[in-house]
Amino acid sequence: MTLLVRDQLHRVRLTLNGRPVTGRAQPRMLLSDFLRHELGLTGTHVGCEHGICGSCTVLVDGEPARSCLMLAVQAEGREVRTVEGLSGDDDTLSVLQECFAEHHALQCGFCTAGILMSAAAWLRENPSPTERAVREMLSGHLCRCTGYGPIVAAILDAASRLSGTGSSDDA
Ligand code: FES
Ligand code: FES
Repeated sequence: MTLLVRDQLHRVRLTLNGRPVTGRAQPRMLLSDFLRHELGLTGTHVGCEHGICGSCTVLVDGEPARSCLMLAVQAEGREVRTVEGLSGDDDTLSVLQECFAEHHALQCGFCTAGILMSAAAWLRENPSPTERAVREMLSGHLCRCTGYGPIVAAILDAASRLSGTGSSDDA
């Protein structure tokens, strides 16, 4: 006897970049695929799909999370922020994004969204980091292009600018 099991679609309601959204996902659908294919936010990149490279990192309830290691249905009721949510409503870049641009901290850009999300959350907890601490934070991310130097410089510059304004909320 052949048992045919069809995946049901589940409704997933979450707050995405500050707005309530609803989508549908199979129980096994990854959050990364849900964001990209169901909700159309392709800024979140998918590299290894094993939790290693960090390119898929988003913020879930304010904390960095590998969206390739999380199911879409687990995002039900949560607050998710992607790289599309880092800039302001008028598309002005955040301080951190500006620093990445000014320091040429990306080449192909594949790793960039994940690094930006981790760094934005991390700077809130570490407003005056050392270079060593930045490099340790970056150990959770693989970049094949930049050699990391410009990325480190950009994050240190962002920390300096944000502490100068007394706020790291808009990293
Ligand atoms: S794609 Fe998620 S960690 Fe590499
Ligand atoms: S800029 Fe190409 S992988 Fe990081």
